[in-house]
Amino acid sequence: MARMAKDPLIQMLADPERTPVRGALPVVTIRPDDEPAYIDAVRRLESARFDLERRDREHGTVVELLRPDLSPQLETAQMQASWKAADPFVMRDAAPKADDAVAMLPEGWAAGRDERERWERWIADAADEAVECTTAFVDPERDVAKAVCEDRGAWAKLGKLSATEGDASRRLAFGVGEEIRDDDHPSSERHAAVWAWACALLPALGASWPEALRKRLGGAAGRPLSPSNPIVYWNRPNGGALFHHDALPGYLPSEDTESAEPVPSGQRGVVYVQGAGVTVWLALSIHTMARRCCEFMRDVVDGGAPWLFDTWVKEGVWQPLFFATRDVEPCLKALARSDAGPLRPLVHGSLEFTGFLIDSGHAAVLRAGDAIALPNRGLDRTAMHSVYCGDEGPNVGFSIGLR
Ligand SMILES: [Fe+2]
Repeated sequence: MARMAKDPLIQMLADPERTPVRGALPVVTIRPDDEPAYIDAVRRLESARFDLERRDREHGTVVELLRPDLSPQLETAQMQASWKAADPFVMRDAAPKADDAVAMLPEGWAAGRDERERWERWIADAADEAVECTTAFVDPERDVAKAVCEDRGAWAKLGKLSATEGDASRRLAFGVGEEIRDDDHPSSERHAAVWAWACALLPALGASWPEALRKRLGGAAGRPLSPSNPIVYWNRPNGGALFHHDALPGYLPSEDTESAEPVPSGQRGVVYVQGAGVTVWLALSIHTMARRCCEFMRDVVDGGAPWLFDTWVKEGVWQPLFFATRDVEPCLKALARSDAGPLRPLVHGSLEFTGFLIDSGHAAVLRAGDAIALPNRGLDRTAMHSVYCGDEGPNVGFSIGLR
């Protein structure tokens, strides 16, 4: 007779329903009301613990198990399989480590008073070419400062990640031509010119895209990949990103499930490289996310979390949520929307669902030098992700579009 695993943690980790992010160490949730045997088992294997907080909301505590040097190293075939399914995967020691995040933030324009003026002075001094600053913002609530460089056919924009007062996270994005309209511009020469300009302004960005990483990702995608649409992120405590995907506007569901060719965009995915500090990620393909939403909601329908049912009924969101999660197809459609549509209360507002995703294997911790690949080749073949700051202070990461 087969011997049953008595350790509840081992049982959970070995559950065939748990599908961990490839390349990541196991991450699990821990709550004060967990069974003492589970808490003890987690403590025995614990290497790091994070209290997740984002935009003034607590999202629970997670524990990373084992030591970072025990992380699995992925073979090319594993990365290819993940790429094809739009499953995110983690690569350890993918890029050089930076000493600290603040050193990578050009002095003088960290979040604070007169931020726009200080940033404008910085870019005017740092750029070799003439730049024109503008306050014609696409997203007035979050955009802080913007400059256009005619010579490079480029724009650069400093922005907030959220309008929450206590969130001092910032992002510096670069793009071709006109923002949004040209984000998916077909000219690789123009994207290359913008990339070169961004790297000249912020050399740490160029360092985050070493030859070895380029080769690994090219091997996964089965073709050479070029960098585009870079964004430098300074995630600070209480900051991070809500669940989203990176499919650019204009993406359509891919009809050919075998082909790696996106329609009509040229962007095949994004790689995020952690430069300094720690971020905690939830990441999974949009298909798996849709399946998880349906699974979780089935449990709620069966009476698994009566308080959630009561809250959602009271808030008037139960019906659309119920109908959108009866099947994978409507769920996929809702997730493809930038606001998650009727799934919003589940995806953005439910701690229970976040915990369910983490315990189902979809969390990963990134430290300096680690990278996560987020394949993307259509609205129904894209990686969904959500980010938390894992530090007491600011950290820095580089998001690089792959074409
Ligand atoms: Fe993203």
